[in-house]
Amino acid sequence: MSALRSLVLGCGSYLPERVVTNAQLSNVVATSDEWIVERTGIRERRIAAEGELTSDLAFAAARRAIEHAGVKAGELDLIVLATTTPDRTFPATAVRVQAMLGITSGAAFDLQAVCSGFVYALAVADGMIRSGQARTVLVIGAETFSRILDWSDRTTSVLFGDGAGAVVMRAEKTNGAANGKDRGILSSHIHSDGNYADLLYVDGGPSSTGTVGRVRMHGREVFRHAVVKLASVVDEALAANGLSRNDIDWLVPHQANKRILDGTARKLGLSESRVVVTVERHANTSAASIPLALDEAVRDGRIRAGHLLLLEAMGGGFTWGASLVRW
Ligand code: UT7
Repeated sequence: MSALRSLVLGCGSYLPERVVTNAQLSNVVATSDEWIVERTGIRERRIAAEGELTSDLAFAAARRAIEHAGVKAGELDLIVLATTTPDRTFPATAVRVQAMLGITSGAAFDLQAVCSGFVYALAVADGMIRSGQARTVLVIGAETFSRILDWSDRTTSVLFGDGAGAVVMRAEKTNGAANGKDRGILSSHIHSDGNYADLLYVDGGPSSTGTVGRVRMHGREVFRHAVVKLASVVDEALAANGLSRNDIDWLVPHQANKRILDGTARKLGLSESRVVVTVERHANTSAASIPLALDEAVRDGRIRAGHLLLLEAMGGGFTWGASLVRW
């Protein structure tokens, strides 16, 4: 029996030019390079220029992904853009990117699952490919979190950065039952629990306050939940595919905190050299962090065809999820 699956054809990413170091931030809030490095692993982050929007970052990453994939923009019949920092409340940033790419066919929409956004978007795009509703799909994670930070709050402002990453996926027919050796998205597993909404949120929005709001976080609580929820969804993804921890070639995690990455790698029995880490240079770019890390490791030759990748993320909501991808 033949079935459809999503093959990843290529990836791309983009970072704004401006680098902001921890030392520079210590002139703005009561913090230090030492505190930030020790507690998070972050050394610097990129911040979008004035007038540089989420759509600009997304478009730059998308162009690189499309080129890397060897497809034409006109072949895309779906764009899913994960973001919590859209250009405007509406229309979706995805339709802006669609227009920037010069496409007038297919569909484009935004998806909001905060830091888990890319895993959610991958799950949705994969589902639409498998059900025959889309054939060539651009999945983007793009954020300008700098615009929703309270720059006087040292507990959040030092943690985030701006950036974008993207992948192009295409439907491919497979014959026979799917197995873990096939290339493409093996499976995605997404979860949420709205009871934790007040631990990580923005204190505004069009319906509640009519303002954009700023990020608020109870970091220590989020940290505690992240470690547990990530371990459980990783096990769920492996079990669903009959794979074991030893099968993983690369962990490509959401980059929130180096200590969370180390904890997850330890639980998986993966050596540090098997974890793609960008948090020290990118900080937490929310939905963009996984495709940014993925693109870096693909382009520098670490990730190669046939490797098994585990993507995982946890964020506001709470939302969390994991995808297994045979590159
Ligand atoms: O991507 C979405 C998911 N987000 C996450 O996964 C983030 C998870 N949380 C974390 O990464 C960590 O909890 C943080 C990095 C946010 C904080 O690290 P922590 O080790 O949990 O520190 P803490 O919140 O327990 O704060 C310890 C101390 C506090 O001072 P007191 O109360 O002990 O006197 C804070 O006020 O550190 C203080 N502090 C700072 N000091 C210098 C908090 N932020 C800063 C700062 N610079 N930037």
